Amino acid sequence: MSIKTSMIDVQTNVELKSLNTLSLNSVASHYVQIDHKDALLDALSYASDNKLNVMILSGGSNMLLPESINALVVHMNIQGIEYVAEDESTHTLRVGAGQSWHDFVLWTTAHQFYGLQNLALIPGLVGASPVQNIGAYGVEVGEFIRLVEAYDRKEKCFSQILAADCKFAYRDSIFKQDPTRYIITHVMFKLLKQPELKINYGDLRAAMGNELTAENLEKQVIQIRQSKLPDPKQYPNAGSFFKNPIIQAAAYEKLSIQFPSLPHYDQGNGTVKIAAGWLIDQAGWKGNRLGQVGMFEKQALVLVNYAQANLNDVQATYRAVQQDVVQKFSVLLEPEPVLFNSAGLIQSHSI
Ligand code: EPU
Repeated sequence: MSIKTSMIDVQTNVELKSLNTLSLNSVASHYVQIDHKDALLDALSYASDNKLNVMILSGGSNMLLPESINALVVHMNIQGIEYVAEDESTHTLRVGAGQSWHDFVLWTTAHQFYGLQNLALIPGLVGASPVQNIGAYGVEVGEFIRLVEAYDRKEKCFSQILAADCKFAYRDSIFKQDPTRYIITHVMFKLLKQPELKINYGDLRAAMGNELTAENLEKQVIQIRQSKLPDPKQYPNAGSFFKNPIIQAAAYEKLSIQFPSLPHYDQGNGTVKIAAGWLIDQAGWKGNRLGQVGMFEKQALVLVNYAQANLNDVQATYRAVQQDVVQKFSVLLEPEPVLFNSAGLIQSHSI
């Protein structure tokens, strides 16, 4: 069924399987796609008139969905890349939340706007990029954001949040901390006129060879990702399933006596980030499955739905991984994707 108002077209009983990259079976009682900022207000009124919770859906690449959701699923699909301004060293662009992230990165490189090349091939949409401050190969998106435009559900108005107020940190921001407050409509990026290549991460420098250009950097990042990370179309997944744990330096020292080859990155503030992929691998889970859900054979940090799994199957696998890692290393891995309940609300991952 479809309920049309002047600006929006609300559909009922909509299958979300193709809209989440883990391909979990999930049906939304109500669903609306939003192509313009103004339509968002209509959708919010519709939800409030019909006493429905609102659940925001972006690219679905970082979500764990239950089999049925009784809520208004608001699918943010605002398109467009606008050139806003320039100064001596940067270009400012305003991009719709529904724009594909990877296509946007390719577009910036083609137009010689620099900074985002390390973030090529990350799944998802532009509007979700600030939420968990997506990062890869030594770059986090927050470094290149000028401001985020969002509807503020607390103040009931559209607002602009400067990057300095977004509290960007490792896979974190105010949008992640306070998920029911803001609905992101656009992101304003500040990109460099001259490339400043960041190629110190892992084997990136070697992969670059002598061609030290932003174009080659993007190409190499794409190649490295394709060699390790499964394509969600072939192996449904949500990228890194767990965060790399950040532990106290003293706890790391203790672990390193028993496990000297544990990959680690000193955070410079008395804490150390350790590689979750290595922990999972050493706990015997690389390429291992429980039922139809397992950890990928080329990168143990990525959980894959190998068949027709539902949320319970995913939970059984990741909890088994957590338990084995705790047993071996006394470290509790925190899942990265956001878990939703059947009322469309965010839930904690507690075991
Ligand atoms: N490792 C193993 N076995 C594995 C996987 C990794 O021993 O199965 C070891 C690697 O050899 C390496 C270390 O663990 O020494 C770290 O692995 P890698 O460099 O591949 O990166 P990662 O920590 O596993 C993080 C991000 C990725 C991002 C890459 C590159 C997180 C949670 N993940 O992965 O982000 O692409 O670095 O920057 O921070 C994502 O968030 O979805 C994502 C893919």
